[in-house]
Amino acid sequence: MEKAMRNFFLFLSKNKTLTKAAKKYGLKFGAARFVAGDTLEQAIQVIKEMNDKGLAVTIDYLGEFVDNETEANIMVKNAIEAIKAIAQYGLNSQVSLKLTSMGLDLSDELVLENMQKIMNTAEENHVFITIDMEDFTRCQKTLDMFKHLKMKYENVGTVIQAYLYRTKADMVDLEEYSPNLRLVKGAYKESSKVAFPEKEDVDNNFKEIIKIHLLNGHYTAIATHDDMIIDFVKKFVKNKAIPKEQFEFQMLYGIRPEQQIELVEQGYKMRVYIPYGTDWYGYFMRRLAERPANVMFVLKGIFTK
Ligand code: FDA
Repeated sequence: MEKAMRNFFLFLSKNKTLTKAAKKYGLKFGAARFVAGDTLEQAIQVIKEMNDKGLAVTIDYLGEFVDNETEANIMVKNAIEAIKAIAQYGLNSQVSLKLTSMGLDLSDELVLENMQKIMNTAEENHVFITIDMEDFTRCQKTLDMFKHLKMKYENVGTVIQAYLYRTKADMVDLEEYSPNLRLVKGAYKESSKVAFPEKEDVDNNFKEIIKIHLLNGHYTAIATHDDMIIDFVKKFVKNKAIPKEQFEFQMLYGIRPEQQIELVEQGYKMRVYIPYGTDWYGYFMRRLAERPANVMFVLKGIFTK
């Protein structure tokens, strides 16, 4: 049942008509729990509140299915504005972005040009950029872009998904770049030809890549809400005497906020991923796919309005 629900919401997440309709009609159906607001000003307010609680942040201006240059340019402009605002207000925040928003599906030249504009501003303003990992079909291009940018810029990282069979080989390939990586389980609907279908295998691979990256001495962001993984990391870093400066935990805005604070109180670095903007639909559907309890929360929201 849980698997069928996950597939259903991941299927919905790819629907372009619903994406456009959602964008037009604003934050609905409980999405506000997971999205900080429509505008950068609203996001800045939320970042300040998070920072005051000792939480670091990464912000993401939401955008999916960018299929023309004008839209890609708007995404670039928004990323640049966010970087400048972080510097201007002295916020403890990084920026996360998706290459498809910057024109990945349009042309290799356009996405490279756009990423260089963003990276130049980020470098000038000392803001770290994480390139989110999207579905399998974009994985190689995303890693290639990361490697290309990393040769010129220090302040860039990307994401590795534990559910992919190729992941361990990718980590070996990335090793020479001393990458700062966010490690996740993986959020997209993938075929069993490319990704582990069983949760147990994903969890085991997740633990494996966490160990590899930490032992290689690279900065590691462990992005999960899973207590089993968090406990595993706590024990592993203790046993191997890995300093707290070499890793951080990350969680999504609106998910397990009490645990976020608890980890800060225990002395760990915790970064919250804060999405904002009007294009919230695909992001929201992936969050519903992850956890039936989120669906119940939304249904309650709909029926009590
Ligand atoms: P999982 O979904 O397996 O949940 C495990 C356990 O966590 C649950 O059984 C429950 O105990 C607990 N839990 C989860 N949600 C809860 C809730 N709402 N309330 C209470 N308990 C809850 N993916 C991707 O493909 N590309 C990317 O770039 C990113 N980026 C990214 C950034 C950040 C900061 C995070 C946290 C996640 C991502 N992801 C991602 C998403 C990631 O791949 C994954 O889909 C989600 O994190 C869900 O997986 P978990 O590891 O949380 O465990």
